[in-house]
Amino acid sequence: MLNIKLIKKDFPVFKRRINGYPLVYLDSAATSQKPQEVIDALVDYYQNHNANVHRGIHTLGDESTKMYDSARQTVAEFIGAEGKQELIFVRNTTEAINLVAYAWGENNVGEGDEIILTEAEHHSNIVPWQLLADRKKAKLKFINVDQDGKLDLQDFRRKLSPRTKLVSVVHVSNFLGTINPIKEIAEIIKEQKTENNEQKTKSKKQDSLLLIPYPLLLVDGAQAVPHMPVNVKQLGCDFYAFSGHKMYGPMGIGCLWGKKKLLDEMPPFLTGGGTINTVDFHNTTFTDLPDKFEAGTPNVAGAAGLAAAVKYLKDIGMERIRQHEVELTEYALEKLKTQNSKFKIRIYGPEIPEWRGGLIAFTLEVNGKEVHGHDVAQILDSQGIAVRSGHHCVMPMHEKLGLAATTRVSFGIYNTKEDVDRLVEALKKIEEVFTG
Ligand SMILES: Cc1ncc(COP(=O)(O)O)c(C=O)c1O
Repeated sequence: MLNIKLIKKDFPVFKRRINGYPLVYLDSAATSQKPQEVIDALVDYYQNHNANVHRGIHTLGDESTKMYDSARQTVAEFIGAEGKQELIFVRNTTEAINLVAYAWGENNVGEGDEIILTEAEHHSNIVPWQLLADRKKAKLKFINVDQDGKLDLQDFRRKLSPRTKLVSVVHVSNFLGTINPIKEIAEIIKEQKTENNEQKTKSKKQDSLLLIPYPLLLVDGAQAVPHMPVNVKQLGCDFYAFSGHKMYGPMGIGCLWGKKKLLDEMPPFLTGGGTINTVDFHNTTFTDLPDKFEAGTPNVAGAAGLAAAVKYLKDIGMERIRQHEVELTEYALEKLKTQNSKFKIRIYGPEIPEWRGGLIAFTLEVNGKEVHGHDVAQILDSQGIAVRSGHHCVMPMHEKLGLAATTRVSFGIYNTKEDVDRLVEALKKIEEVFTG
């Protein structure tokens, strides 16, 4: 069992009172709070080691470079990468996906090709593909998400075709909470790859046999890496994107993991200093991984802070963190469903806590009228409870369910059952306000 009361003490923000109440933070899916270790790592970097990396030959420059490299190694190991060259530092999940959409997409997707997403993607995993599809006259397809928030894998099989170049799916939905079966998706993709190669062999175009067979699999892991053990090799994907700030690390640092072979073949996305081997007035040769994708001065303090966050998570243990969040989610689902009040609550996503990450989106109805999520969030905030309301950057799925907005509570390692009790108690105020 985790001692959450002790863990909470690691996070200075919980000393705060909000509107006179001790803070209950239920918005970790948007961004997590930061433990003292991470804050100290940022301060230590700027106080003692600040210098640009891979440049000046002086002690501070050397220390800074070593810290940056070592942070890469720490994060790469944490997600089971084969080597640190496979881990590219970016700003966040959104940038990681854009990197693939440009550097890989521009050179591999053509007219009539297909990209498959799910209906429950975050805008960050829709918009870059929409723009790529527009540029290339390619087609987007969306895997059906059923009423329980689960992916319809039969529908996926139907939609896969020899023209599918990429499948890009969210690991844990930031709206429905669903944990998607990535390994199963990877297996289905493998069957399609085999079929594509057999077709190529039959058509005797040996020379056009693909070095890297399509379709590839990109996983948006923004809501997974902070909450459960993730091993990119075991998942069987080709790219994996995540953000530091949702995993107790600083804002402004995130990661793209990719198979080395793929990253090696991709041209740089942003170019300039740091990415080159040689430049003359007309031509440039680019350096190797990972520098090829990290143009300009990187966020070294952010990387050091992220490494501190990874160490913090590892010390607690990802299995234990997952177990804690399953228990909390189970408790919260039960409490929300059985709270004794005049409003009707509707919860979205899978019923079974093991099938979902630590977040719950819901709507409330009083006397047949829906209470807007913003009103819910405001009334909770007035009692010191931070939740999120709106479409959570998942507008298409909200629209499919006929919803303008939902209220979302999302957990981190610092949340307790008492936090859930405070939430349920505070919801009573909404009833008071809306029933007079
Ligand atoms: C599932 C998912 N994907 C992508 C993102 C985008 O993350 P970022 O804003 O850090 O790029 C989020 C953020 O909420 C998310 O929940």
